[in-house]
Amino acid sequence: MHDGYAIETERLTRKFGEIVAVNSVSLRIKYGEIFGLLGPNGAGKTTLTHILCTILPPTSGTAKVVGHDVCKEPDEVRSSIGIVFQEPSLDSNLTGWENLDFHGRMYGMSSEERKARIEEVLSLVGLTNRANSLVKTYSGGMKRRLEIARGLMHRPKILFLDEPTLGLDAQTRRVVWEQIEKLNQTEKITIVLTTHYIEEADYLCDRVGIIDMGRIVALDTPQALKDKLEGDVVYLKVDNLKKFLQIFQRSGLVKGVKVTSDSLQLQVSNGSKTIPKIIETVRRKGGQVHEVSLKRPSLEDVFINFTGKAIREEGPDAASRFRMPGHWRR
Ligand SMILES: Nc1ncnc2c1ncn2[C@@H]1O[C@H](COP(=O)(O)OP(=O)(O)OP(=O)(O)O)[C@@H](O)[C@H]1O
Ligand SMILES: [Mg+2]
Repeated sequence: MHDGYAIETERLTRKFGEIVAVNSVSLRIKYGEIFGLLGPNGAGKTTLTHILCTILPPTSGTAKVVGHDVCKEPDEVRSSIGIVFQEPSLDSNLTGWENLDFHGRMYGMSSEERKARIEEVLSLVGLTNRANSLVKTYSGGMKRRLEIARGLMHRPKILFLDEPTLGLDAQTRRVVWEQIEKLNQTEKITIVLTTHYIEEADYLCDRVGIIDMGRIVALDTPQALKDKLEGDVVYLKVDNLKKFLQIFQRSGLVKGVKVTSDSLQLQVSNGSKTIPKIIETVRRKGGQVHEVSLKRPSLEDVFINFTGKAIREEGPDAASRFRMPGHWRR
């Protein structure tokens, strides 16, 4: 067991001229956690990661990684962490095995240590049978997995993954998720990842910090973040939508109500408890319920709630497309 936190920052700030890329971030990450920084392009995820990895100095504030100050004890920090950069950084003219061997040499590992560890990490990421192929013959997912293996070579206590699945297809992404989970369990390693994929944060992370314009605007487990919204949505198909819109607006049963082309959307604090009352109200007022369904808030809803905008959508030119959310008005 470890004392203290894997990572502890206090009002950490990084400016680039006028741009405040990281804005007074204070956070604590526990040993053994998979911690996710979720935010859109330009939110400050890479900048924050680089400060924690001693690649960039902060403008102000402090950061401790495995108990060592990133500015005063960078060597101690570096020997305790592994990094998978957002930008690919493998030597594609070397084999997978040679890339790992080179990394092991950089960290002063002996030849025997390297050999044993290379076998271990290749097996962890499922690349044993491609060890001797040139990296330029690897698929995108295989390259990403090799980079993760490389980050693990020197047995770091914390592994930083900057957008581990950026650009991978949904199926490959899932394979990488499973491997990240596995190494968190088998290697007992703390993982700090950045992502703009909502499902990735939701599926993988024990806790998620939502970061927007350099600030952490919410931080908790994915479930607790969703629970904070207290907002289930009940979709109700009934005849005479206008009549029931008015009835529910006056009923005191719901927090908000919208009408769409064929149904009512009722915002309620607890969907499963309220649905029977909603159905009863419709019956009492002489209507008939054709269909009723319940939608619990997603991490996307949480993101919208805290930042007022939707996170980047997936797709080829998604970076430039932002969708304005339909806010519920209370
Ligand atoms: N070296 C730099 N010089 C000037 N501005 C920078 C530099 N690095 C980052 N920035 C700016 O800081 C802000 C945060 O950038 P950062 O790369 O940390 O975001 P990010 O959350 O990692 O985004 P992405 O999802 O696109 O990777 C952006 O406005 C970016 O333009
Ligand atoms: Mg980034």
